[in-house]
Order: sequence, then C-alpha cells, then structure tokens
Amino acid sequence: MNHLGVDVGGSGVKGALVDTSTGELVGERVRIATPQPATPGAVAGVVASLSACWPPGAEGVEPSFGCTVPGVVKGGLIRTAANIDSQWLGCDAAALYGEAAGRPCRVINDADAAGLAEMRFGAGKDRPGTVAMVTLGTGIGTSLFVDGMLVPNTELGHLEMDGRDAELLASGAVRDVEHLGWKDWAKRVDRYLCHFNRLVWPDLLILGGGVSRKADKFLHYLKVEVEVVPARLRNEAGIIGAALLASGAAAPVV
Ligand code: BGC
Repeated sequence: MNHLGVDVGGSGVKGALVDTSTGELVGERVRIATPQPATPGAVAGVVASLSACWPPGAEGVEPSFGCTVPGVVKGGLIRTAANIDSQWLGCDAAALYGEAAGRPCRVINDADAAGLAEMRFGAGKDRPGTVAMVTLGTGIGTSLFVDGMLVPNTELGHLEMDGRDAELLASGAVRDVEHLGWKDWAKRVDRYLCHFNRLVWPDLLILGGGVSRKADKFLHYLKVEVEVVPARLRNEAGIIGAALLASGAAAPVV
C-alpha cells in the first residue's frame, strides 16, 4: 500500500508517497517552504498543494494520508505550541488538513512519527524493551517505545536544565544561533541526555533530527551511559512515520 506522508517542519513542509510495507519512498520527495507566519490556514494550503501531487484517485495512491505536527496531538487536536504559531492551540488539525486536501487525514506529533519509522525500518528495528528517540532540530522532540508500542506525546525535550527549558539550551537550532562548535554543543546535549537517562532509563537511545546526518562530528563526545545510535532514516523519518499512521499499520512495531 502506498500512502502519502507529510512532515511539517519549521522551514519546510515535505511530502512523499511511501510504500508502507518497506518504508521506501515511491518516487521523489517534494518540499515547499513553510509559510511565515505558519498559521493553521497557511500551512493547510501548503499541505493541500502537496496532496495534489499524489491525488487520491491516482493509481497506487491510497486515499488517506498522514501529517506530522510539532506539538502534542490528542484526538486530532493540537494541545501545545512551543515552537509554532499560537493559533494552533485547540485546532483540529486532522479535520483542517482533511478538508483542505479533500481526503481523510490523520495527524501525529513529529517526533512520534520519526520514532515510528525508525522502530519499523531503521535504528530501532527489532529492538524490544524501552527505546527512546530524541530529535534535535528546531526544538527537542522525544518519542518513547515499550516493546515496540508507542507511548505518545512524551514532550521530554522540555525537561528543565539550569532552570530553563532544555530545548532552549541543546536543540540543533541553538547550535546555529549561538554559533557553538560541535564539542561545546555536544557537552550540552550530553548533559541533557544524562538528565533524560536518569528519568527514563531506556535500553536504546536513537538520536534524530537534521544533526543525525553529522553524527560522526559529535557522537564521540557523548558520555551518557546508554547505547546511543544515530537515526538511519535521516530527514525522511517523519514522512515515513506519517504514512505508516495513515496506513493503520503504525503499532505495535516490534
Ligand atoms: C514540541 C514537540 C516537538 C518538538 C520537535 C517541541 O518544542 O513541544 O511537540 O516534537 O519540538 O519539533
């Protein structure tokens, strides 16, 4: 089955058709710049344009699609907006995207989607026990799996560190904004991961987000006492996870 997956990020909205039995993209990925301000209506317009690239009637394209949101999602409703326009609070994103695109839509937190994809096809494949994924991007996203079953909306990127929100100290974006070298940034990430580890005690920790492509630059600085591996699906994990959700084959994944 081929489902459309859409990943909504701070700078780009990316979509692709995904063969949900293999996790492979079917054809090209399409990216449209995230509108600014990224209000629900403006993002829905972009999602509709992406949806039109793989219309539901087309051969080999399932009608329903999945879409990520960088916030807590409960029953399709957006409940937090740490890094997104506050108009998203309380918005029924599933209904909004579904109406804009003219086809059924399911929505999921972006880190949860990336985790689903990594558990099914990537670094967490066949890994039982407690597996955590931490995405280091604009914010810090987390997803948690117990024997392959997702515990949704964990939001552990907002743990407190030095009296501040951890994502304001150690996200991927902070490295750019504060012009931190890999070592200095990795020290902050390590402190965050140690804090995380003391509270969650995962058996495996998968590091994702844009920086996972550059794992060789900072992984060796981490001292946290848990097995840490980079995500394998790179910036396609969100798309693949969203498509998995749409296919109904999201859980359990081990
Ligand atoms: C949000 C999370 C999201 C993460 C990554 C955080 O600020 O609260 O829901 O997963 O950013 O986008």
